[in-house]
Amino acid sequence: MESSILQKYNVPGPRYTSYPTVPYWDNSGFTEGLWQDSVVQSFGESNATQGISLYIHLPFCESMCTFCGCNKRITKNHAVEAAYISAILKEWAMYRDLFRQRPRIKELHLGGGTPTFFSPENLEKLVKGIFELADAAPGYEFSFEGHPNNTTREHLQTLYDLGFRRVSFGVQDYSETVQKAINRIQPFENVAKVTLMAREIGYTSISHDLVFGLPYQTVENIVDTIEKTNALRPDRISFYSYAHVPWIKGTGQRGFDDTSLPKDNEKRRLYEIGKKILCDKGYHEIGMDHFALESDSMYTSFKNGTLHRNFMGYSSSATQLMIGLGVSSISDSWYSFAQNEKTLEDYYHRIEQNELPVFRGHILNDEDLIIRKHILNLMCRFTTSWDNDDDYFNELPEVLWDLREMERDGLLAIEDTFIEVTEKGLPFVRNICMAFDLRLKRKAPETKLFSMTI
Ligand SMILES: C[S@@+](CC[C@H](N)C(=O)[O-])C[C@H]1O[C@@H](n2cnc3c(N)ncnc32)[C@H](O)[C@@H]1O
Repeated sequence: MESSILQKYNVPGPRYTSYPTVPYWDNSGFTEGLWQDSVVQSFGESNATQGISLYIHLPFCESMCTFCGCNKRITKNHAVEAAYISAILKEWAMYRDLFRQRPRIKELHLGGGTPTFFSPENLEKLVKGIFELADAAPGYEFSFEGHPNNTTREHLQTLYDLGFRRVSFGVQDYSETVQKAINRIQPFENVAKVTLMAREIGYTSISHDLVFGLPYQTVENIVDTIEKTNALRPDRISFYSYAHVPWIKGTGQRGFDDTSLPKDNEKRRLYEIGKKILCDKGYHEIGMDHFALESDSMYTSFKNGTLHRNFMGYSSSATQLMIGLGVSSISDSWYSFAQNEKTLEDYYHRIEQNELPVFRGHILNDEDLIIRKHILNLMCRFTTSWDNDDDYFNELPEVLWDLREMERDGLLAIEDTFIEVTEKGLPFVRNICMAFDLRLKRKAPETKLFSMTI
């Protein structure tokens, strides 16, 4: 990769798990009433045909990983589990009252934090509580995030018996130096043990999360980490770019010095080398940051053009309505977004008041819906087309200027009614999405909001 191209395009940019991106939501037009109306409308339109998706955020972790950008609460006190589950089930009951019909759940994802902080008995209570007045939709996919250091056979078996067939384990990097810097000591043996156990029990999609660009990470570390990962043959691999967002309160990312982070070219090289080994070993690059074996459904969805992306990341099936339960969770009714309170105290308080705990959101306008379509197409299919409905893109010189410049740089090809990302352009798909992001173009962020694109 030419370093001038890397430098030119390595700018702060969104990861586009939504459009508009969260910092660009217009909260002024958002009310809880409008949110409820859009949930009712979306549920009515899609529950019978597609079913709905459910994300449950389980925020507790026993110790702080100093690279983590997620919403979490560090505690060793497991007494917190019961109260949190009661709050989630109460929040779910509020949504069910809105639905007035039994929801059919197509996708269920337990994310964190550390879902395996909870005991298997409590996770069973949670999932059974959710399904007391709900059904699983045909072809359902249930998944959870497991920490290799505390996932037990009982966790895996209990969740398997409840219908879970997908699990993702946080690996990050196997080097001891890197693990010390990120305060996450986790030997290969632990990851191997839980991966083999999950496979024995019958999980059909096991995923490992790896991160490039971590403090002190070298090419040797990445080669070793990827080779160890390949030895366990997970069905999917997330190979995330380390998002350095130390200005977000509570991330604990000040646990190491910025000078220990691989920069621009060096960081990109870690990805390129990792990617090459994965591709040589039979993994396919899917969307942004993801790899899958041909036998995994994510590969099939990518090939069929049915891959979808939402706040949970990529998924192989799309539902119009996604409800996020728990502290800081984001919901998407397709017509609007809403986010829950970000501290446990505020979340509990709202639930005690019998209120949906949303504190901000955004109602999508017609322009948002069109731009979201293009951004989803680019992130999931590396191409997007326009027709008569939205040929006004041709009249938006600022979008076309950016696209033409990227075409000159060899990142994409512009045809009459579509654009296609080239092989060279794949690492810059976030930048290509930014060309369409009119909200970002109209108002550049005043403070640092996004991680670097590379
Ligand atoms: C919320 S974590 C949950 C994983 C699980 N609790 C564990 O500890 O193993 C999900 C994944 O997000 C990724 N992640 C978290 N913070 C990140 C950051 N700042 N940049 C890139 N990826 C990050 C990591 O790969 C992590 O495994």
